[in-house]
Amino acid sequence: MFLIVLILIWCAVFALWWFVKPRHPSPPVYPGALPIIGHAHRMLGSELLVTDLDDCLTVANTCLEKPYLYDFGKPLYDRGLVTANALTWKPHRKLLNPAFSQQILNTFVQEYSEQARCLVTELATEAGKDPFDVVPYLLKNVIRSLYKTVIGVKPSDNEQEMTLKTYAHATDSFFGLLEDRLQSAWLHLPVIFNMSYLKKKQDAIVKTLKNITETIIMKRKSERKQNVYADSIKEVTSGYKSLLDLLLDVGEKEVFTDEEIREHLDTIIGAAYDSTTRAMTVCLILIGTYPNVQARILEELQEVFDDPDRDLTRHDLPKLVYLEAVLKETLRLYPSAPRVGRYSESTVKLSKQSAMMSMKTTLAYILRRYRVTGDIRNVQSKCDLILKSVIGHKISLQLRT
Ligand code: HEM
Repeated sequence: MFLIVLILIWCAVFALWWFVKPRHPSPPVYPGALPIIGHAHRMLGSELLVTDLDDCLTVANTCLEKPYLYDFGKPLYDRGLVTANALTWKPHRKLLNPAFSQQILNTFVQEYSEQARCLVTELATEAGKDPFDVVPYLLKNVIRSLYKTVIGVKPSDNEQEMTLKTYAHATDSFFGLLEDRLQSAWLHLPVIFNMSYLKKKQDAIVKTLKNITETIIMKRKSERKQNVYADSIKEVTSGYKSLLDLLLDVGEKEVFTDEEIREHLDTIIGAAYDSTTRAMTVCLILIGTYPNVQARILEELQEVFDDPDRDLTRHDLPKLVYLEAVLKETLRLYPSAPRVGRYSESTVKLSKQSAMMSMKTTLAYILRRYRVTGDIRNVQSKCDLILKSVIGHKISLQLRT
């Protein structure tokens, strides 16, 4: 009897402590959580859920075959690295690895810097005003950087800007359809999905995206025949080469077909653009929530940049140790791509370095110029393919004096 009373008192004290314990500011819990088990019941149907970081790395390095759910992306991405089966993934990944070497990525920093400088200028219209939604600004910045580093073309006129917008919008719609299908068990069956309105919608989106990328590849191929380089002689001599050119080099050895090159390009842009934007958005909101963290980032920036307006170079990036730690902690707490599925047989390393370099550059430019204010408690997340906040991605900016 005494023991039961003791357990009841302990439970009451624990419940009271749970409700009153001090908490760091954090976003509201996603609807549907149950006491103790949280959202675990939503995982019914998964054979095994791995959350431990070391276990995730082991699975990522050893398990290459993906569950059937990845096939939903095949109409667009087919043999691209995310959806490819193990047999295709291994040789293609080997051929693509050099395109993501540190040497190649270093040549991209100048472009990340140029685009970050443009972004900071565009953000000036918001400085000193009410909180605003930073996502459209970051999306534009990321897609423009990708356009240059992946495809090799500077979006220089209105027509190209429009193409970029159409591409980004169609990719969003494609991801939305994938998520709708993932969440409706009956649509997993190809026979039912093929009869649904979603299939018609998907066909139209895939056609739009394929048309854009195919036109870009054809244009570049004909330019290469005439020995025209993407931008300027300066870039050719600095070793800069877009991913498309690297893929076309491999294609000329008849290893990749044009269709495979298209699938790789669409995959890389699709994998990069939303995940990077969402990670930077949450990072800015978190930095705006924790003034002490922002002060420490600024201290580091002041140590590295004697002149706060000088261009960032690749040599500065390794010195931004604290900023990188803040980005990594953001990704640990709010991972942009929160779910990965494998049958017990890719490393994510390929995307890690490129994403880190572009995000560090962009954040360094923003934080050198502006003081950021945000509140992570206002963020309401939605877990689509990418973890995104559906409302509350507002920050405010004050010009640093
Ligand atoms: C913060 C930003 C990013 C995050 C959180 C992220 C996360 C991930 C994750 C979790 C995967 C595994 C997906 C799966 O297998 O289901 C992945 C794969 C991939 N990502 Fe990223 N990514 C980011 C940025 C980028 C960038 C900037 C690029 C390209 C420049 C990129 C290109 C890729 C590619 C090609 C794959 C497939 C790799 C393979 O299977 O060999 N990602 N990424």
